[in-house]
Amino acid sequence: MRDAPAGLPRKANSGRSCDFTGLKTRVCQAKDGIAEAVSLLSAGEPVALPTETVYGLAADALSPVACAKIFEAKERPLSDPLIVHLPDNAWLARIATPTPLALALADAFWPGPLTLVLPRTDIVPDIVTDGRETVAVRRSAHPVFQEIVETLGRPLAAPSGNRFGRISPTTADHVLAELDGRIPLVVDAGPCAHGIESTIVEVLDDRLRILRQGPVTADDLKAFAPLDDTRGTTAVPGGMKSHYAPRTRLVIQENPRPSSENHGLLAWQASGEGFAHVEHLSATGDLREAAAALYGAMRRLDAAGLELITAEPVPESGIGAAIMDRLRKASAR
Ligand code: TXA
Ligand code: MG
Repeated sequence: MRDAPAGLPRKANSGRSCDFTGLKTRVCQAKDGIAEAVSLLSAGEPVALPTETVYGLAADALSPVACAKIFEAKERPLSDPLIVHLPDNAWLARIATPTPLALALADAFWPGPLTLVLPRTDIVPDIVTDGRETVAVRRSAHPVFQEIVETLGRPLAAPSGNRFGRISPTTADHVLAELDGRIPLVVDAGPCAHGIESTIVEVLDDRLRILRQGPVTADDLKAFAPLDDTRGTTAVPGGMKSHYAPRTRLVIQENPRPSSENHGLLAWQASGEGFAHVEHLSATGDLREAAAALYGAMRRLDAAGLELITAEPVPESGIGAAIMDRLRKASAR
């Protein structure tokens, strides 16, 4: 971590700005950005990369100093551990101790939007796990991310590329809005396919515990092992209630009606008549399309200078459960 100015604690989340003087953030299209990303990552710098879920802020997972730069740029508390993204399945046993159940899940869902929490090995730096005995691991299915991590030949720690507690980025522009001037490079590969973060599951001996809902659903996982009931709990360290929050107050309401001239709507089925700004999640009622549109729509509503945003609930089936989880967190302030 860079030295904090005299008198300030050396904490990533001191709440005061770190010294990013002279740092300019470049955005490169994937074609030109891949080689540059690999070179920066090899030199221990953090780089924002596309994944199939959301854009991540990646750094060499085996370098504590490189990982510290992630916490610094995001102003993320060190108590919130990072996901390690592997170049291939063979890396799994170097980073973690996979059980037969974990191996079966990796075979079935990787590369893809499923993160496994498993006992870690000694090569994982403490800063990655905040000293926990477990590590979160996944393999991204994004071809650009894959090419970068495979060329680097080392795992990449990557949280979502937003400032701590804010909405995850699903385009390169969103990353810039969060981290411009704090990181050297954003690799732009267009919008993310899923638009919502990976499902996180803790792998117990013969059971699974969903710590964060996402594109891989409870029904998908039930086929492999019984699920512990974690409804209503805040299971991941970074999953506190007020996560994913727009700055504007957001409430969830069925059959929404405008209550002022400055009221916005995040719409599922409503027409939005009378609202000052309306974002429709999916014209065809497709939950996957809604998940992919969610964070961009929340950002636009947040930028519209509204007094209040009302979000219409979506059905809690399939990825709808993950959408409702994010909306509840966005409304809990
Ligand atoms: O889709 C995703 O998962 C994206 C892309 C970039 O891969 N990453 C992402 O990372 O969403 P992040 O850091 O924003 O969210 C990861 C969550 C955090 O809430 C963190 O607390 C939790 O995973 N986590 C990390 N390591 C953990 C562990 N050992 N045990 C339990 N939770 C863990
Ligand atoms: Mg995040």
